[in-house]
Amino acid sequence: MSAVMERATTYGEYLRIPELLGLQKTLTPAHDELQFIVVHQVFELWFKLALHELDALRAAMRGDDLARAAHLLRRLQALVRTVTAGFDVIETMRPYDFLEFRSALQPASGFQSVQFREIEFLCGLKDERYVRLLDGDERLARRMKESTLWDAYVELLGRHGLKSGSEKEIVASVIEVMKRPDAHALGPLTEELIELDELFSLWRARHIRMTMRMIGSKPGTGEKTVQKLVREGYERMGSAGVDYLKTTLSKTFFPLLWEARTFIRR
Ligand code: HEM
Repeated sequence: MSAVMERATTYGEYLRIPELLGLQKTLTPAHDELQFIVVHQVFELWFKLALHELDALRAAMRGDDLARAAHLLRRLQALVRTVTAGFDVIETMRPYDFLEFRSALQPASGFQSVQFREIEFLCGLKDERYVRLLDGDERLARRMKESTLWDAYVELLGRHGLKSGSEKEIVASVIEVMKRPDAHALGPLTEELIELDELFSLWRARHIRMTMRMIGSKPGTGEKTVQKLVREGYERMGSAGVDYLKTTLSKTFFPLLWEARTFIRR
């Protein structure tokens, strides 16, 4: 009899609930700190799932499995919507209550979230400077070398007989696809990708609005790391906190899909 058959697993064992519930270590007696830790940990778990689904999405696109790609994209969209809604909980914290424990976690900051950067890199927004700032983290260094979702999309254009050699050609090809959203094989996928990109931008917008509500224009807890990035000559980089976050609002995973929207004509 196999070990699995000997005794049925329980809910707690299968999901490792005791271990999971042992991971919230507050640094202060402040009431809101547990909430702050739980919300961040939940976000990181969703990020883990997002990376799993994004890896599968890239494989489906590279394998020309468009039905699976569309299915995975819908799951990713639902996930990003759910993650964004997570800000509802943390936003109930009042600025004065946050200050009760904020200095204890300094200089930790969401800026150091490796999984968040992995998501950006995997979707197409690679930036070597973040690898250096996170001390050459090996997961990020690996993502830096991997192909991206955008690479997979451009390869798909080529396999479907569309030109994809230069940015100009890619935009022209995307316009061809967008003109026939239902008839072209890549039509639905293209729309789902732009939807994912928009939802991610809304995550950024929601995060910054919540941050402004929480700390106004005070420097963030990651001030020192952000300023290291500024010293490296990051173009138009805000100095810290909300200023920095504002510079991220214009980021998109698939800028050429957005550019094609401008030039599409009847
Ligand atoms: C009280 C709540 C929060 C405040 C006041 C806050 C504030 C900030 C600030 C000021 C930054 C810019 C870097 C810095 O100066 O430290 C930042 C970056 C970031 N935060 Fe938050 N944050 C909060 C909650 C969250 C939550 C719940 C998450 C979810 C994981 C998160 C994820 C991130 C990420 C990923 C970045 C980097 C963004 C980028 O570089 O594009 N933050 N946060």
